[in-house]
Amino acid sequence: MAGARALLLLAAAVVAVLLAAPLPVAEATRDNRRATLKKICKATSFPDVCIKTAGKHVKHHRTVDAFTVLQMQVDAFAKRTVAARKRVAKKVKASRRADHGARQALILCGKFYLDVLDNLGACRRAIRHRDGVTIRATMGMAAQDMQNCDEEFRKAGEEKNPLERFNQSLGKMAEVCRSLSNML
Ligand SMILES: *[C@@H]1O[C@H](CO)[C@@H](O)[C@H](O)[C@H]1NC(C)=O
Repeated sequence: MAGARALLLLAAAVVAVLLAAPLPVAEATRDNRRATLKKICKATSFPDVCIKTAGKHVKHHRTVDAFTVLQMQVDAFAKRTVAARKRVAKKVKASRRADHGARQALILCGKFYLDVLDNLGACRRAIRHRDGVTIRATMGMAAQDMQNCDEEFRKAGEEKNPLERFNQSLGKMAEVCRSLSNML
């Protein structure tokens, strides 16, 4: 009986010490976080894109792991898509009515990019639930939107997609996100 009480007191003491001690958060230095970021990005399909886009956001995160790097990528992806939509709006304004086909293609691409943003919203929710299947599905749909945009210019008889650079960087970001979702 006395033994049990002693044990209880000991347990209480341990709990008290644990509560009083500061949380053992091993906050990584910025250099450590950068090194971790590089290691994670190297395992994706486009390490350079991954490092470059996530790099700017590293300082906002205490921990760097596949989960936070994915969040950084999706943030950068959304930003770039918004920039793509602005470019589209500018180009539509500058286009001549005579270029009906190309103009229509641009307008449709603006819609496809809006759909990309919807998918990124769904992707963010899926990330919170660590739902890799849904993350990959949203990325697949975003890549499809890019392909659809490409296709519109082809159908309009244009030699090349005037949004090629956006198309390429956004496509790569979707691939990087897909790789990261496999590491969660
Ligand atoms: C546009 O992106 C899609 C999807 O990533 C890709 O299949 C296509 O080759 C890209 N087009 C150009 C011209 O880069």
